[in-house]
Amino acid sequence: MTRKIIVTSDPGQDQAVAILMILGSPEAFDVLGMIATAGNIGLDLTEKNLRKILELAGRPDIPVYLGAPRPMGRPLVTAAHVHGPSGLDGPSLPEPIMRTQTKPGVDYMVETLRATASGTISIVSLSPLTNLALALKAAPDIAGRIREIVMMAGAYFEVGNITPSAEFNVYVDPEAADIVLRSAIPITMLPLDVTHRMLSTPARLDRLQALGNRCGVAAAEMLRFSETFDLKKYGWPGAPLHGPCVPAYMIRPELFQGRLINVTVETASELTLGMTVADWWRITERPRNVFYVRDGDADGYYDLLTERLARLP
Ligand code: RIB
Repeated sequence: MTRKIIVTSDPGQDQAVAILMILGSPEAFDVLGMIATAGNIGLDLTEKNLRKILELAGRPDIPVYLGAPRPMGRPLVTAAHVHGPSGLDGPSLPEPIMRTQTKPGVDYMVETLRATASGTISIVSLSPLTNLALALKAAPDIAGRIREIVMMAGAYFEVGNITPSAEFNVYVDPEAADIVLRSAIPITMLPLDVTHRMLSTPARLDRLQALGNRCGVAAAEMLRFSETFDLKKYGWPGAPLHGPCVPAYMIRPELFQGRLINVTVETASELTLGMTVADWWRITERPRNVFYVRDGDADGYYDLLTERLARLP
């Protein structure tokens, strides 16, 4: 079954590889458009990175729209310390030729959802949730038109990565995450609890490199750059590969395990701002608003990733 999708992304090497996985899976995804988000790096670079990735994969036909330049209610926090000053350090990718769309990304999302049959578009959120939340605020009617949101966001059992209690995508814009979590739209969350099971070991990166195509080689080069920070921080045999968990779940959900629970985000406390409180044991009566994925088959994940990148130029 092919899903129509709108992708929000702030690439970031892991998200670049997620987008390549999406583009290597045309039977699974009909990519309507991508919305550049401010997050890992500033919007001026995330939008350029999206265009670089699309041209790398030979898909300059996919439109890129500009999202908001900052979170809804606070200054932008970036992660250049992980991703490098360009946000996509590692391979040397040519300056993009394709142009960014002039229509604002939030307007594009609202108009596309209103113009397309209700319940047929999935939102693939690899980024902070700023633009989706702004669209929901501007046009509450679109909530009932969105088929599902599948997001890389949050953490609970694995605790935080940008603070002791918060995962980066939620921490950048906790108010946006709160709006989305309260939207009653079907949500699947791929948090650090599962992405930390997916470690890009040297053998797994060598498999991508050995594909020999430009996308496989570039993916390996991207991840060999961005892994540096995590290998030093965690001391694991590989760095967690976050973003591709989203398309992998959408393609092969049987690789993953989770349950429908309540997830609520902290938006007030400075100490735990952005913490996603997952009611895993269903202790409260809070609405079960999220299918929370806690575990997955790492070998199956990397087999799928490698197979899909092999299809690209
Ligand atoms: O917390 C990890 C996520 O935050 C990754 O997807 C990374 O790209 C950043 O967006």
